[in-house]
Amino acid sequence: MTLHPSLSLLLHLTLILPTTAAALSIQAASPPALLHPNAVYPRANAFHNLSSPTPDKPLILASYTSLFPPGGHKTLSTSISRDGGKSWRFLSDIWTANATTHDIDNAYPLQLPNGHILVAFRNHDIGALTGEYVYYRITICLSTDYGQSWEFLSHASERWAAGRNSKNGLWEPLLRADRRGRVQVYYSSERGAGRQDNVVRVSDDLGRTWGDEVVVSTREGARDGMMGVVEVVVPGGGEGRLVCVFETTEEDGRFAVEAVESLDDGGSWGEEGRRRVYTVKKGKDAGAPQVVSVGGWLVGSFMTNEGVDGGEGEGVDGGEMKIVISKDGGRSWDGAAVAAGRGSHWPGLYQLDDRRFLGLYSADGVGAVSRIFEIDD
Ligand SMILES: *[C@@H]1O[C@H](CO)[C@@H](O)[C@H](O)[C@H]1NC(C)=O
Ligand SMILES: *[C@@H]1O[C@H](CO)[C@@H](O)[C@H](O)[C@H]1NC(C)=O
Repeated sequence: MTLHPSLSLLLHLTLILPTTAAALSIQAASPPALLHPNAVYPRANAFHNLSSPTPDKPLILASYTSLFPPGGHKTLSTSISRDGGKSWRFLSDIWTANATTHDIDNAYPLQLPNGHILVAFRNHDIGALTGEYVYYRITICLSTDYGQSWEFLSHASERWAAGRNSKNGLWEPLLRADRRGRVQVYYSSERGAGRQDNVVRVSDDLGRTWGDEVVVSTREGARDGMMGVVEVVVPGGGEGRLVCVFETTEEDGRFAVEAVESLDDGGSWGEEGRRRVYTVKKGKDAGAPQVVSVGGWLVGSFMTNEGVDGGEGEGVDGGEMKIVISKDGGRSWDGAAVAAGRGSHWPGLYQLDDRRFLGLYSADGVGAVSRIFEIDD
């Protein structure tokens, strides 16, 4: 969709990427569309209703965490968009838990070629008296009726909490299917107070059982986390080269965004190719990145407080959502442009076509939203 210039002014957002090469601009091509007025961590993936009369129609399935205060429950839910992210309709609840004793969040959906849908999420137990984590899980749920209802399928990883001074949590899962149809679950695994690794496990049986942990990224003294994974589509085909973006900590504990790559469809990952995606201004943070492929470009997102004149202690969560672009398959990155202003949390991305993508985030005072963006060169 190409917008008339006056309309894009009305939409109040044109992002000029200060690229060193030819200028790319990113425009908002829709107003924000509401997913849920009181939800966080929206994530979206492609969806086909194979039992409908129009099984080829591309729909979008989103999952998110809604909060029902006071002292109440957290619920993981799904919504469907039938118009390319311009509007959403509630579809189903996946899982509900008492927020005093359970921490459920970070849901990520994936439809398999047979039409079944998996959702991975963090599913932790909290001590009612201590308020501390007791048990950690990355849980997988399954829907065999196109998202109407959900059942427990497996835990991709689980363990007892090691205790206050020795963090060993499991966080932010992401699902993808490899070229052989196997399911990969990526998540972050704490190895201690100042150390976290990114890892992946593979399932040969559509998410029922999971193989051993393979390390995606690790660095002594750093907290690597919050992965986004994308296949770099090479013209003329070729073996799957994947790029994984993630947040990591600098020596002073501040967050920056880095990337590693896999040349074998996610089977193995190497630190040799580890490179910087984005460094923020000194004393600020950039975290929670995601990545999608749009046309010949990779589009990366993250949240950052670098443009926010907050007081001391204003963290990366609730800063701005920014976009960076790579024209060379993730080797170098240009940007960054503000896609969503202060008070935007935990952004996700979804590719719509060769020009357009959705940004999904929760906005203060509004809720979980998606917005269509378009790249112009
Ligand atoms: C899928 O299609 C069936 C048959 O038309 C319909 O009953 C169901 O509501 C659809 N589900 C979704 C999520 O679109
Ligand atoms: C949630 O759990 C706490 C602690 O067990 C309990 O006091 C509270 O009543 C529960 N809330 C609901 C809404 O069930």
